[in-house]
Amino acid sequence: MSKLVLVTGASSGIGEATAKRYGAAGAHVLLLARNTERLDGVAQAIRESGGTATAFPIDLSDAQAIKDLAARIESEIGTPDILINNAGAGRWLPFLDTTPEDARAMIDVPYLAAFNLTHAFAPAMIARKSGGIVFITSPASFLAWPNASAFIAARRALAGFAEGLRGELKPEGLFVTLVVLGAVETPYWEHNPDSRENVPETDPRLMPTLTPEQAAEAIFEGVEKKKPTVVKPGLYRALFVMNALFPKLVAKQLRRSAKKKRAAKS
Ligand SMILES: NC(=O)c1ccc[n+]([C@@H]2O[C@H](COP(=O)([O-])OP(=O)(O)OC[C@H]3O[C@@H](n4cnc5c(N)ncnc54)[C@H](OP(=O)(O)O)[C@@H]3O)[C@@H](O)[C@H]2O)c1
Repeated sequence: MSKLVLVTGASSGIGEATAKRYGAAGAHVLLLARNTERLDGVAQAIRESGGTATAFPIDLSDAQAIKDLAARIESEIGTPDILINNAGAGRWLPFLDTTPEDARAMIDVPYLAAFNLTHAFAPAMIARKSGGIVFITSPASFLAWPNASAFIAARRALAGFAEGLRGELKPEGLFVTLVVLGAVETPYWEHNPDSRENVPETDPRLMPTLTPEQAAEAIFEGVEKKKPTVVKPGLYRALFVMNALFPKLVAKQLRRSAKKKRAAKS
């Protein structure tokens, strides 16, 4: 594979595993995140296993920094074949515990970061008539769990953007993949305190927690097949259909599950 693949949030968890997966497949991987030391470690691991990678430290909540870095990448390396918008943070918190600053930060990254990065690279992809734009999100893009209203709003923004963009860019020869992942065991839960406590219980036999490598494999396979959506575990698709057909029933179940979780916590 001689592709140029850009992965945001490549310093940790799902982004790190996805970058390594693409590195192992022979892609030149561009690694973006804030933590320089961790990015360098991931780049080195990719090189040691025979791949090529370049680290670009950046705070993706800074729109001007994204513009500048995209211009630098375009001139020094080229236009990515695949852009994986994975960087993200966001705490699952009850509404009254969520500050306006929290709500703003969740919109800044991932949604606006993904918008700005896509905006910077899309013109060259359109001119070339090829390219894939990928978004990593959570089932919160489609289900209204209690105790996560700001997080849900931000994730719906991301899913809405992905779907709108697909309609616009498909005729230009580009594809858009929206990847919806259930729980993945990554440092996310330490990076976003109090979130684990507010994620509803799911039956681990039906909705097993994924490893970052399983998540990366699902992303890699789905993107390489240019799938419009990837949902893992796949059973979430049934839940999304149920929610569309019987929203009151699903909302009741989610409320019950959230109540159980909070009762167990207290
Ligand atoms: N873990 C799950 O259960 C799960 C499930 C579904 C979807 N997701 C989504 O998948 C994505 C990756 O999550 P993860 O589990 O891998 O979490 P993680 O281990 O916390 O990784 C998050 C990544 O995003 C980067 N990032 C955050 N804010 C940034 C900013 N302002 N600028 C640049 N980079 C930033 C972090 O890098 P730096 O700190 O170095 O900047 C890190 O590399 C997130 O959008 C998350 O919501 C996670």
